[in-house]
Order: sequence, then C-alpha cells, then structure tokens
Amino acid sequence: MKILITGSSGQIGTNLALRLLRGGHEVFGVDKRQNTWTNEFPYLLQDLAGHYAPFRGGINGVEYPETDLVVHLAAHAKVHQLVGEPHRALENAVMTFNVLEYARQANIPLVFSSSREVYGDVHRFEGYNEQAADFAYTESTYSASKIAGEAFIYSYARCYGLPYLVFRFSNVYGRYDNDLHRMVRVIPLFIHSMLRGEPITIYGGRDKTLDFTYVDDCVDGIARGIEALAERRVVNQTINLAYGEGNTLVHCAERIAHELGTEPDMTLAPSLLGEVTHYVADLSKARALLGYDPKVPLDDGIARAVAWFREHREAHPEENTFISADHERAQERGQGWKTAPVS
Ligand SMILES: NC(=O)c1ccc[n+]([C@@H]2O[C@H](COP(=O)([O-])OP(=O)(O)OC[C@H]3O[C@@H](n4cnc5c(N)ncnc54)[C@H](O)[C@@H]3O)[C@@H](O)[C@H]2O)c1
Repeated sequence: MKILITGSSGQIGTNLALRLLRGGHEVFGVDKRQNTWTNEFPYLLQDLAGHYAPFRGGINGVEYPETDLVVHLAAHAKVHQLVGEPHRALENAVMTFNVLEYARQANIPLVFSSSREVYGDVHRFEGYNEQAADFAYTESTYSASKIAGEAFIYSYARCYGLPYLVFRFSNVYGRYDNDLHRMVRVIPLFIHSMLRGEPITIYGGRDKTLDFTYVDDCVDGIARGIEALAERRVVNQTINLAYGEGNTLVHCAERIAHELGTEPDMTLAPSLLGEVTHYVADLSKARALLGYDPKVPLDDGIARAVAWFREHREAHPEENTFISADHERAQERGQGWKTAPVS
C-alpha cells in the first residue's frame, strides 16, 4: 500500500513509518519539523494547522503523491503544555479537519491517533472499555482536542461515508522519544535526569497509575489496523491500544534507576491540572478485532528504553546537559515560564 503519515517526524510516526517500510509498504510523510532520526522515507514539510481556503488534492492545494490510506498522527501531543497554551488544542482540531477534508476528497480511509485522555480522570472503572468515554468529563484542553477530532471523524463517516479507525493510545515510550529539544515526556526525562544524578518529581503522587505502552506494541497495533481497514475487515471502530496493565509512576522510576544502577532521588508532588492519574486499558476489543497481543511489559520495555537512550547519548554526548521541562516551549518562543513534565 501507499500510506501517508502525518506527524511523521514524531516518535510514533517515525517508528510506524519504518515498520511499514519493512512490511513492504510505501510511506510518505508530512510534518512541520524535519525528521532527525531517519532519512529512509520522503516527507513534505508543511504546517497542517493553517486555516486554508477549500483545497483540491493535498492539503492547501499541495500535490500529494497517490495514497491508499492516511494515518493522522500530527498534533501538539503534550497535555500540560496545552493547558498552558489552549490555542494549540484548537490547532489540533484544525489539523484533523484539514486531514479529513483531504481524505474525503481523495476518497481514502483514515486512521486517527486519539488518546486515553478522552476518558478523563474519573476513577470510575477498573479497566476502561471504549464505551466508557463520557465527554462531560473532558479533563483538559488536550482531551478536548482529541474528543473534537473523534467527533469530526464520526461525523465524516456518517455524512460522507469516510471509513475510519480511531485508536486511543496510552503513554507510548521507547525509541525516538528522547529528542532533547522536546523532552517533556516522563520516561526519557527520568532517564536523562537520573543519568545526570539529578532529582526527579513524581506529579500525582505515589498512587499515580498508568498504562505504559512500549512503542513496538503500539506500532504493531496500528499496522494491524491499517491492514484490516484497507481490506475493510474492520471499519469504523474506536479501539484502545495499550499494554493493558497499570503501573505506578514510582515503580517506573524505580525500574529506570535499577537499569541505570542508581538510586532514584524522588519528590512526590500533587497532580498537575488536567492530568489523568489512573488508567488501565481494557484491550478486549483490540484483541478480538485485530488479534492485538502486546508483548512488552513495562520492566522489559524500560530496559529497552534505557539501552536505546544510552546508545543515543553515546553518539550525542553534547546532549548531556541540564534541561528544564519547559525546554521546548522556551526554545520555540524565546521565553521560559515554568511547567512540568507530562506522563
Ligand atoms: N505518545 C503517546 O504517549 C501518545 C498517547 C496518546 C495519544 N498520542 C497521540 O499520537 C500522536 C503521535 O504522538 P507522538 O508521541 O508521536 O507525538 P510527537 O510529538 O512525537 O509527534 C507529533 C508530530 O506532529 C507534528 N506536528 C505538530 N504540529 C504540526 C503541524 N501544525 N503541522 C504538521 N505537523 C505537526 C510534530 O512536529 C511532531 O513531529 C499524537 O496525535 C498524539 O496526540 C500519543
């Protein structure tokens, strides 16, 4: 197949593109940033969040190559950043709208990257199945952007017959998530800080429990979805993709410390505004519809993530430098008001 991936310079996009190439597919990416990890696939540098006039062909009238299916991953993907800068949440919705318009005109199916954030932080369930989303519980502007994206997709399916799959991801970690300039994710940030002997802060306290997904499992689920959707075996479904097990952030930090052969210097702090503090996915639907069977429990995944991090750091010793959690935003905007890592 010929597959278009938006957000192709990001963590999931890069891993997915390489996986699809290995599976014999052709990949074409779109992102507003260069891909710093690989040059194995072509991509277009384009801002997908513009308020463009109605267009023909690719977004904003740019000629895209012939495509069988689009995977829409581009987004501002950090919860707490969007609480501080809500206009970025609106940009997420605009990106999804532009990609939907492209898919509608090109008459191709779409795979969308939603999030467990759509469930909110309501602590109502042991395992969250897909029906449990109740949008009255919209937890943050980031959640709102994913709910808006889902709603647009469901409406395009009804009004224009657009075939789709929506995946709700949860804390994806591993390879290609340790770009120093964008390191606000908890696992690479903890590895970075502990390697430097610096303290870490666990926002949400000792009980904060999340479903961490090693990136290869996530990408395997998406690849299964792409094939099932292309063959119309599975169409118009919303599906959780995670590992299916809760782990505390404290445990996660302890495992990183173990892998690094160090003792974690942890401070516990209250949860940040808009964050989910308890989530364990119900994966029954992914298993039944896609044969999804995640393989990498957190302890193994942490070992792999630490090994990847060490390898990358050896090749880039200049990255062994102090970073604050607002690094990316400070870089982008030349200013530095304080925020904290998201998980
Ligand atoms: N990684 C996770 O834990 C997780 C969890 C739930 C949902 N998701 C969703 O999965 C998707 C992929 O996540 P990721 O971890 O790879 O994120 P990422 O931040 O690594 O990648 C997102 C990419 O989108 C691009 N992008 C942002 N704004 C753009 C714009 N205006 N035009 C073009 N490109 C733009 C970025 O440059 C980036 O390369 C996102 O939609 C995210 O919200 C991720």
